Amino acid sequence: MTQDEMKKAVAEAAVEYIKPKLTEDSIVGVGTGSTANFFIDALAEIKHMFEGAVASSEATAERLKGHGIEVFDMNSVSEMEVYVDGADEFDSGLNLVKGGGGALTREKIVAAVAKEFVCIVDSSKKVDVLGEFPLPVEVIPMARSQVARELVKLDGMPEWRQGFVTDNGNLILDVHDLEIMRPKELEKQLNNIVGVVTNGLFANRGADVVLMGTESGVETIKL
Ligand code: A5P
Repeated sequence: MTQDEMKKAVAEAAVEYIKPKLTEDSIVGVGTGSTANFFIDALAEIKHMFEGAVASSEATAERLKGHGIEVFDMNSVSEMEVYVDGADEFDSGLNLVKGGGGALTREKIVAAVAKEFVCIVDSSKKVDVLGEFPLPVEVIPMARSQVARELVKLDGMPEWRQGFVTDNGNLILDVHDLEIMRPKELEKQLNNIVGVVTNGLFANRGADVVLMGTESGVETIKL
């Protein structure tokens, strides 16, 4: 099975997983990235079963609309049954690194509102310790150098993702060389640096369930 086939299988499994939770009034939170794209395509098959979606990026909003799924503004939604999104890494505590596609801030906002966060990944995303994938940090443009200096003090090696601007008009620093032993603490510590909008650690609100595509099928992982 190719990686894309695993992503497609896990996306289809996610649709089966959320189906029983949906009513005609439900709003589905939808993530960003290649696995989320497979999920959107599968979700379109059951679009008659829910009201609409909230998108975690402009790209996701466009894809949802292309399938005829109504996209709601986050500010008009107070309840969301489920949020489905990919990840760049996850560990056994269902802590995640996200933001490889740069959508981390909106992803974190939508995840915070949802009752359940369903993370969909292929097996390459499983790690013992988070940090091999460079940790994305979204920063206000004028704070880029100052935040980078603070990240070096935390033993990280920040690299400016040049030429990339987030949907919120900000910049991304990808932090290499972190061995993240305490993800919950580091997430808070990074948020405390002035000029940081958010960081790609999803630990204080990690996944509630991970659906992982493997060679032999989809595994459901819960704590
Ligand atoms: C987007 O900003 C990310 O958080 C994605 O969820 C993450 O990069 C996973 O993407 P893929 O599904 O493309 O691997």
